[in-house]
Amino acid sequence: MLRADALLSRFGYCSRREAAAWIRAGRIRLGHETITSPSVKLDPARVLVDGEPVPFVNGIFAALYKPVGYTCSHTPENGAPTIYELLPPQWSARNPAVQSIGRLDKETSGLLLLSDVGELVHALTSPRRHIQKVYEYRTVSPVPPEATALFVSGRFTLRGEKTPCLPASLEQDAADPCHGLIRLHEGRYHQVRRMLAAVGSPVAELTRIAIGSLQLASLSLLPGEWTPVNPQLFTDAP
Ligand code: URA
Repeated sequence: MLRADALLSRFGYCSRREAAAWIRAGRIRLGHETITSPSVKLDPARVLVDGEPVPFVNGIFAALYKPVGYTCSHTPENGAPTIYELLPPQWSARNPAVQSIGRLDKETSGLLLLSDVGELVHALTSPRRHIQKVYEYRTVSPVPPEATALFVSGRFTLRGEKTPCLPASLEQDAADPCHGLIRLHEGRYHQVRRMLAAVGSPVAELTRIAIGSLQLASLSLLPGEWTPVNPQLFTDAP
């Protein structure tokens, strides 16, 4: 149960201060009853705002097909659009606001999870979770055959870092040495690009195609589109 003014602010309709005017204007109802006081306690699942139920009352958990060229930042950087411009504006106005679970760099496309449930964001970004992430890469020059054994060895260290990367599996396309999949169980800054650059094969294109058991292809999204997903897909996984 939430106070009427806190409810409007939590779900991104207006600030707590503006809520009094929304309530005075008769915009909040519980069934046929119009709410008249900002302090009345309400069940968000039963409230109507402007005649519509409150969306995602139990929190948002969604997958976005991030297009190339968008940043995962909350504030625009150097004129680049942000992923938040692809989402309903009310999601950013929620308190807490929706955020991405981890990030993809501006030139990387693919599967990105989003949530406004603090515990979920925390649990899924924890370095202890080691959730597998699968990336499809295209490089500008062939990846040398010895890269596969190097990356899986657990003895490969990125330039400027002290601890070696966790074992990562590289699956090169038999017909195209510039194309393949790489599976990571961690997420260091620009990790795939730095790993492939370290073996002399800079990345030309990078797409994240899976996180844990969730495959981007199974969601039938076009770049820029999002869909709600069931968080149990991740919370039930080991
Ligand atoms: N590795 C990268 O280089 N970039 C990403 O966005 C994700 C993984």
